[in-house]
Amino acid sequence: MSKFYITTPIYYPSGSPHIGTCYTTVACDSIARYKRMQGFDVIFLTGTDEHGLKIEEKAKEKGVTPKEYVDEIVANFKRLWERMNISYDRYIRTTDDYHVRAIQSIFKKLYDRGYIYKGEYKGKYCTPCESFWTQSQLDENGCCPECHREVTEAKEEAYFFKMSPFADRIEKLLTETDYLRPASRATELVNNFIKPGLEDLCVSRTSFTWGIPVDFDPKHVVYVWVDALFNYCTALGFENDRYDDYDKYWPADVHMVAKDIMRFHAIIWPAMLMALDMPLPKHLAVHGWITFNGQKMSKSLGNIIDPFILSDRYGADAIRYHILREMALGADSSFSNEIMINRINSDLANGLGNLVSRTVAMADKYFGGTLPTEREKGEFDDDMINEALALRAKVDEYIENTQINNALAEIFKLVSRANKYIDETTPWVLGKDETKKARLASVLYNLLEAIRIIATLLSAFMPETMPEILEQIGADKEQASYENAAKFGVLAQNVAVRKGGIIFPRIDVDKEINELNSILASQQEQAKQESAPELVPIAEQIDIDTFAKSDLRIAKVVSCEKIKSSKKLLCLHLDDGFGERQVVSGIAQWYQPEDLIGKKVIIVANLAPVKLCGVESNGMICAADAPDGSARVIFPDQSLPCGSKIR
Ligand code: MSP
Repeated sequence: MSKFYITTPIYYPSGSPHIGTCYTTVACDSIARYKRMQGFDVIFLTGTDEHGLKIEEKAKEKGVTPKEYVDEIVANFKRLWERMNISYDRYIRTTDDYHVRAIQSIFKKLYDRGYIYKGEYKGKYCTPCESFWTQSQLDENGCCPECHREVTEAKEEAYFFKMSPFADRIEKLLTETDYLRPASRATELVNNFIKPGLEDLCVSRTSFTWGIPVDFDPKHVVYVWVDALFNYCTALGFENDRYDDYDKYWPADVHMVAKDIMRFHAIIWPAMLMALDMPLPKHLAVHGWITFNGQKMSKSLGNIIDPFILSDRYGADAIRYHILREMALGADSSFSNEIMINRINSDLANGLGNLVSRTVAMADKYFGGTLPTEREKGEFDDDMINEALALRAKVDEYIENTQINNALAEIFKLVSRANKYIDETTPWVLGKDETKKARLASVLYNLLEAIRIIATLLSAFMPETMPEILEQIGADKEQASYENAAKFGVLAQNVAVRKGGIIFPRIDVDKEINELNSILASQQEQAKQESAPELVPIAEQIDIDTFAKSDLRIAKVVSCEKIKSSKKLLCLHLDDGFGERQVVSGIAQWYQPEDLIGKKVIIVANLAPVKLCGVESNGMICAADAPDGSARVIFPDQSLPCGSKIR
């Protein structure tokens, strides 16, 4: 039996998993199930990537140990995978003892082979991404090129991995083999990373401790990506004796990842394997992001689409189907509740669900559930049967190329074809004519056969509902095998259907959209509250005379302009009731001059003049801290005359 080894990335145990996090795992699960159905000896690996500064910091914030912190999140991940019917064969945690020891020995091997050496790191570090960047890699604002957050200057003694010896081989791997899917992504990798010269990679840290210690130099911990990437091998028993199927399953047949971690899997990972003379994975399939209405999902934006909520409302299979069908390999996919509900209604409720319920109901109505064995061929039969017979080979090919959306589209073409066959053959007309019973039996049999093929092939993608459909059409396990999905005429001629419940209920679009929107609104409200800055403690007490020294007045903004040399400052000309005064205020990020001109504001009128960016400022505009970190100007009652004193 041929083996097939497929992996997801291992997830950071941070926050709550969302529909985007689900995608890779659902996609790998479907491929794993399909391959199992084809008779492959499959191993499907997933897990969690549990080390690093970010986890150490989060645990500290919560007042628990890093291990306690990750244990709780990992339990939630596992609940989600159970809910989504993920059939992983192995789950690796990078905190597992066997993995820790294996990484130590892998690190030592790379060192002994001369690929790892000790040096000093100077550069920019992005804490959220756990990545060091060179100046030239930073984005146009000098921030992390991946998450676009601020980077900090870092300098530390570190071990480095030599990348340059592998540059040519990696370029060939990306441009001359079918390792990378889609192949079109090779250009950006070659142009951005290989052509400018592969820089050595910093592979240890001394600035935090939540990681795997380098055993021959324990003040260093192994860089989290080295720790993480090798999970694909340690989980099979590489450099450890917890498992012993490395020789059987390595190299991986498919690593599936999203685009943000392509660089690690397309360049760094092959280089490390080359350094150890290990075989390379066969394919790296890179998909895009699931965004929400075109926007990145994030807890702080309150637009996380919660797969628990969706699967409770519509069933795990409907959600699996929707995300798999929407995402084309390599491209992003914009999630919206409207698109999801419309797709469930059109493809699952109206398309497949209707096909099954109509066919089963007619077999029940006209033949009491058991088809008679007399047959009569007719127009349209061959066309539908040929389409059904050709389906499996097409799906096989798409799965072979990790194009799940196309595989599903192909299966649903047969759903449409079969529904059209009902319209063409009009069984309800045949049912009224006693002399047409044999023809009617043929039509219903052909429909049941088409449904059998459809449900068999779909079992890999929708494992919860397809057994129900197969049960309703009277197909047993053997009849619903992969083998039989390329044959027509497998069900017994006198097959008996079993009428069951509605498999994909039609969703009331308006009602559901309203409810989902209100869930989202409360999520956003909560996100707003959670992101509210901690209140600045109230300052030391003062007496009234001290307060009275501050002279606060109402003033009107007469004119206002940006100060060219600064991104933050506005220069305002005010009427303070006594005359004109100039005040410089650091609110340019949040206000345009036209937002302020003509408005009355509160000023601290008796501050000594200062120069800001070379411009004189006489006083200060009063503003308050807003939860999003901005400053909001305080606008008093606009009827108050300029110069009114605030007491
Ligand atoms: N720990 C690393 C992977 C190490 S693998 C040796 C990591 N973890 S992650 O939790 O941040 O991401 C796991 C996977 O989920 C990545 O492929 C990531 O790109 C993917 N996704 C996270 N959000 C996503 C979407 N919104 N849409 C699609 N995939 C998304 O990276």
